Amino acid sequence: MTEKLSAAMAPAASRPAWTEETAETAGRGGKIVLQSLRQVYYIRNERKKLEEFVALEDFSLSIGEGEFVSIVGPSGCGKSTLLDILAGLAQPQSGEIHIDGKRVGGPALDRGFIMQGYALLPWRTVARNVAYGLEVKRVPRRRRAEICQKYIDLVGLGGFEDRYPNELSGGMRQRVAIARSLAYDPEVLLMDEPFAAVDAQTRETLQDELLRIWEKTRKTIVFVTHSIEEAVLLADRVVVMTSRPGRIKQVLKIDLPRPRTAAGMRVSADYSWINHRVWELLQNDDGPSGRAEAAPAGRSVADEIAPSTLL
Ligand SMILES: Nc1ncnc2c1ncn2[C@@H]1O[C@H](COP(=O)(O)OP(=O)(O)O)[C@@H](O)[C@H]1O
Ligand SMILES: [Mg+2]
Repeated sequence: MTEKLSAAMAPAASRPAWTEETAETAGRGGKIVLQSLRQVYYIRNERKKLEEFVALEDFSLSIGEGEFVSIVGPSGCGKSTLLDILAGLAQPQSGEIHIDGKRVGGPALDRGFIMQGYALLPWRTVARNVAYGLEVKRVPRRRRAEICQKYIDLVGLGGFEDRYPNELSGGMRQRVAIARSLAYDPEVLLMDEPFAAVDAQTRETLQDELLRIWEKTRKTIVFVTHSIEEAVLLADRVVVMTSRPGRIKQVLKIDLPRPRTAAGMRVSADYSWINHRVWELLQNDDGPSGRAEAAPAGRSVADEIAPSTLL
């Protein structure tokens, strides 16, 4: 009987819902290739002398076409620095970025950037905000209107086309920002803590919507967050960063089934275990895994006592 019970529990324990990679092994080839990125800022020390502050160090990662990658790490670990470089808004001190084999030199419409602060144009209505990138691309007026309507509907803002940003809630503004980025059809969406400023309920709705939109459009998404749960819910792979300097600590490939929803994940034991594992990695902020500590080949010690079949 005892034997039978343990046999019944065995499959879950031997089939972890994630696998772990170190920075060196994290995906080769791919749509976006980041090679040994390093970024420094110059800050004044107590003696008013300029001092080098390393914000990003030896950051290498390869991201596949249509992949959803979350970057998670404590505040100040270099997430925004990384995304600014990816967007072409900042140049790294050293290292290179290639998208589709081409070196990234500056901002371009192949990448949509969605920030926490919405960055909408306050004097433009929803429809005209969404149209902005299409105007830059010189898409003819009629075609522009069609595309705008498609993405306004996709993010659930049909009926709000003529509103101005100050007449919208935070969640609605973020939907406009998403629609605006999708409308000019970028290859890659870069999102920097896009849902950090909205309430918890709206955040879940936006997460579900982003998942639905991603399933539909299959854009390559790099999503920065300091929320472990959000990173795991959304991503195919979660990149865990350490701070001072910002490096990759570990990359977790998330094997939770899709389609996912925030509510559905909340009752998944595997989801909880992955969250716990990411939390563990963040707690133990002692540099890249494999240098300071041996990376376990799947689950942590705590897994021995709680296979997902127990729930
Ligand atoms: N323009 C800047 N000048 C000096 N230091 C900066 C600048 N931008 C960011 N930093 C510092 O670099 C580190 C990483 O910042 P950031 O990339 O914004 O982190 P995160 O987005 O993970 O919170 C932080 O310690 C921050 O204070
Ligand atoms: Mg940031």
